[in-house]
Amino acid sequence: MKPIISSFFALSLLSSLATSSLSAHAHQCHFPAIFNFGDSNSDTGGLSAAFGQAGPPHGASFFGLPAGRYCDGRLVIDFIAESLGLPYLSPFLDSVGSNFSHGANFATAGSPIRALNTTLRQSGFSPFSLDVQLVQFYNFHNRSQTVRSRGGIYTTMLPEADSFSQALYTFDIGQNDLTAGYFANKTVEQVGTEVPELISQFKKAVTNVYKQGGRYFWIHNTGPIGCLAYVIEWFPIKASDFDPHGCASPLNHLAQRFNHALKQAVIELRASLPKAAITYVDVYSVKYELFVHAQGHGFKRSLVSCCGHGGKYNYNRNIGCGKKVIVKGKEMYIGKPCDEPDKAVVWDGVHFTQAANKFIFDKIATRLSMACHRQ
Ligand SMILES: *[C@@H]1O[C@H](CO)[C@@H](O)[C@H](O)[C@H]1NC(C)=O
Ligand SMILES: *[C@@H]1O[C@H](CO)[C@@H](O)[C@H](O)[C@H]1NC(C)=O
Ligand SMILES: *[C@@H]1O[C@H](CO)[C@@H](O)[C@H](O)[C@H]1NC(C)=O
Ligand SMILES: *[C@@H]1O[C@H](CO)[C@@H](O)[C@H](O)[C@H]1NC(C)=O
Repeated sequence: MKPIISSFFALSLLSSLATSSLSAHAHQCHFPAIFNFGDSNSDTGGLSAAFGQAGPPHGASFFGLPAGRYCDGRLVIDFIAESLGLPYLSPFLDSVGSNFSHGANFATAGSPIRALNTTLRQSGFSPFSLDVQLVQFYNFHNRSQTVRSRGGIYTTMLPEADSFSQALYTFDIGQNDLTAGYFANKTVEQVGTEVPELISQFKKAVTNVYKQGGRYFWIHNTGPIGCLAYVIEWFPIKASDFDPHGCASPLNHLAQRFNHALKQAVIELRASLPKAAITYVDVYSVKYELFVHAQGHGFKRSLVSCCGHGGKYNYNRNIGCGKKVIVKGKEMYIGKPCDEPDKAVVWDGVHFTQAANKFIFDKIATRLSMACHRQ
């Protein structure tokens, strides 16, 4: 009898502990603002503000005109903002019509984690690397409060001081560090050896935000770059290096190597930042699933771009979607989109369509309302 009673007691104690910790954690999170860092996967107009607009037909499916996004419509970060009841994020770099009352977006297309020593024109990568985005965030944090204290309209356009500690800090960056190395003729193995340094810089960025009062972090891993036309088409890839779904395995393995290290870094950050709630979001798996079972998820084309020009993947790196070219003395935009952008996974050989972004968001969304809780 005795052992049974005591184990029963232990069980009920355990279950009451579980219930109390559940109820303490059950409330939905409220985020008054989002501060986002990243690359084109989450750029809502930063690169366009700095270097010129991404031309039509970008934005056509939703905004009706180019909206600074490399997409026919909304990005995952837009769906995140919508679901939290917040306005779409204004790019920090856009000085026209921006409203930062509920956050700011520091991401620009082509941004790497690592600081580059080349300009956009030399390398095609953005000079707004993660460390620069952090400098911009610090400036924003500091100056927004100085300016807000002037009162009037500034109080409606800049975040309250408390928003910085209650905000969701979102990150989606790393893809350009992997591709930049590959495009610079390094082997996949060589680029892989750079991963620890990239991850170390990433950890510094998160720690920096934490030191400025940030508490809630939402970190996307990097996608299956080996399924994207701009990567597949760069160098000839051996037939034996393609997986059964047409993706280049060595490049996907590189992305997975990065993700493995990123996941480990998140575990270390949870230990070193005691008040932080950090959610590691596996967008790789969702994106790969979409490529592999595109039809099962209602899509008609997976690897072949919707907007582009020629070749096996309707992609030509010299004539990209939305690029302005002179044809017979007349300026025109290249890239008539496919008939059904909502049935395509890839928009322009590099980025996902709005329909794909919605699919990705739906798969990760359930954790959003819990992202303020430490795990
Ligand atoms: C840029 O130059 C600095 C100083 O020479 C160097 O430490 C750094 O590794 C370089 N960055 C890249 C991406 O080459
Ligand atoms: C902004 O920076 C100045 C010094 O550069 C500092 O005195 C001030 O406290 C900072 N303000 C905030 C809100 O961080
Ligand atoms: C900025 O956006 C907020 C929230 O949408 C709104 O309440 C405020 O009026 C806007 N400010 C201006 C100047 O448009
Ligand atoms: C990479 O290699 C190709 C072919 O050998 C060469 O044309 C190109 O200039 C190289 N690129 C870089 C960045 O070294």
